[in-house]
Amino acid sequence: MPNEGSYEAALKRSNEIHADLPVHPEKYTMLTGDRPTGRLHLGHYFGTLVDRVRMQDMGIKTNVIIADYQVITDRDTTEHIADNVYNMVIDYLACGLDPAKTMIFTHSAVPALNQLMLPFLSLVSEAELQRNPTVKAEQEASGHALTGLLLTYPVHQACDILFCKGNIVPVGRDQLPHIEQTRLIARRFNERYDRVFPEVAGLLTSTPLLPGLDGRKMSKSYGNSIDISMSAEETAKLIKKSKTDSERMITFDPEARPGVSALLTTAGICAGRDPEEIADEIGDAGAGALKRYVTDAVNGYFEPIRARRAELERDRGYIRDVLADGNRRANEIADATLAEVRAAMGMVY
Ligand code: TRP
Repeated sequence: MPNEGSYEAALKRSNEIHADLPVHPEKYTMLTGDRPTGRLHLGHYFGTLVDRVRMQDMGIKTNVIIADYQVITDRDTTEHIADNVYNMVIDYLACGLDPAKTMIFTHSAVPALNQLMLPFLSLVSEAELQRNPTVKAEQEASGHALTGLLLTYPVHQACDILFCKGNIVPVGRDQLPHIEQTRLIARRFNERYDRVFPEVAGLLTSTPLLPGLDGRKMSKSYGNSIDISMSAEETAKLIKKSKTDSERMITFDPEARPGVSALLTTAGICAGRDPEEIADEIGDAGAGALKRYVTDAVNGYFEPIRARRAELERDRGYIRDVLADGNRRANEIADATLAEVRAAMGMVY
């Protein structure tokens, strides 16, 4: 028996739930989200957006939080935040999230969600907070002092998940420590007071991680990611200037040829083809031919999504309404859960 909190245990739970989702969609409430720090890119799209839309269309209750308070965990500014939030809603809708089925909302508009932070903080120890490996890594990467909010944001994420009684949370592997923290908080609350919260599981994505165009981790700061919102021309330009190597023969070899292989992986996922097969087809036509192939594959795939995006962009009023409606529904749910929490704690006067 692997230890409950281990990666193996999380993977096993995740696989079991993946298999059960189409059989018992009514059992599941999904919550996941994004920090509105910039535009969503192809990594987000293939890594999670596709799955969110699939779950939404299966009849699972789906909730997506735009985690605006999480933006200031490791930076000093909220510059561009409103613009990032609106563009995130536009990306979601363009990619197929349907606001009639999926509740889309922000932290800052849902006070009762945030109030859960107080009882939840009482359920965790400083040592637990300090040893979260993801928090440590994020603090180091930010080059910023460890703020109280960064230290405690896994608890805030537990609030995001539990306010709507989410029981499945699609996340990347790096977020698993937070899911474990959420499981502990729910369990401790239920034991100490009354059974209010469900058992939560992280759902690991089945798609392998899409590398950035240079083969490194896809990241805005490396300039190696293709945003959903880019035009076909911007996409072509970015692919054109991506780094390959001097070997003319195109082969798929992520270790030795990270640039060429990342291009093949990107083309493969967009064209629904095996990267090795694309490599064989291009053969000794060289990097120029490969880049033309990738550009066509990406732009072909995203053409309808970008067309929808352009239409949505022209209608800010509608985007604002979608968010206002999501926020209104989230407040109803959060108010009801907070009332239950206060009742369980005997804090009703
Ligand atoms: N931290 C997550 C990320 O950076 C975003 C997020 C915020 C989230 N709240 C959440 C994810 C709750 C899952 C559940 O990707």
